[in-house]
Amino acid sequence: MQFRIRTASLADVPGLAMIQRDAIDAIDDGSYAPEARRAWRNRPAEELRALVAAGRYRVAEQGGALIGGAGWQEAEDGGTATIRAVFVHPSVHGQGVGAALVSAIEAEIVSRGIARLIVPAALNAVGFYERLGYAPRELAEAEFDGVRLAYRRMVKQAA
Ligand SMILES: CC(C)(COP(=O)(O)OP(=O)(O)OC[C@H]1O[C@@H](n2cnc3c(N)ncnc32)[C@H](O)[C@@H]1OP(=O)(O)O)[C@@H](O)C(=O)NCCC(=O)NCCS
Repeated sequence: MQFRIRTASLADVPGLAMIQRDAIDAIDDGSYAPEARRAWRNRPAEELRALVAAGRYRVAEQGGALIGGAGWQEAEDGGTATIRAVFVHPSVHGQGVGAALVSAIEAEIVSRGIARLIVPAALNAVGFYERLGYAPRELAEAEFDGVRLAYRRMVKQAA
């Protein structure tokens, strides 16, 4: 499948938020109860907007249409980066878009001299990150809109 990856602009945020909602709605492996998915999908787009504004969000597009995105954030210690908000539209799942987005983000992180990567992985996405070389660590919880969502911390030493 042909697609290209570019740095996101603020004009992309509404379209990205829709892709996120569609991607979360399509999770059907029982990882999360409907109430948890609802809280996750309704999460405001502030985090996404902040990543885009910082120049740390990449999008994938096909024929001018957005099909996914991924971002990152640097920890205060300067030696660790957290992969954030990785989403691919369900109509193109399983065609390498997510892997290409994470790979582009990783290359950018490494080019800034950061080698330790962390991802707070949604439970449905643990296998995806394992495929990309991330090792599973402990379970943790986030709270969205008063609803607790479990996730798994995963780590990778780059380069
Ligand atoms: C997780 C997600 C980003 C994967 O995107 P994708 O474009 O479908 O993934 P890719 O096609 O690049 O997959 C790369 C590899 O991981 C595998 N893979 C993808 N999703 C997987 C999953 N849920 N479990 C196990 N393996 C998976 C693919 O089979 C592929 O393996 P291969 O290299 O042997 O062919 C996408 O399913 C998604 O948006 N999910 C909903 C939102 C979400 O959970 N985001 C993650 C938040 S932490």
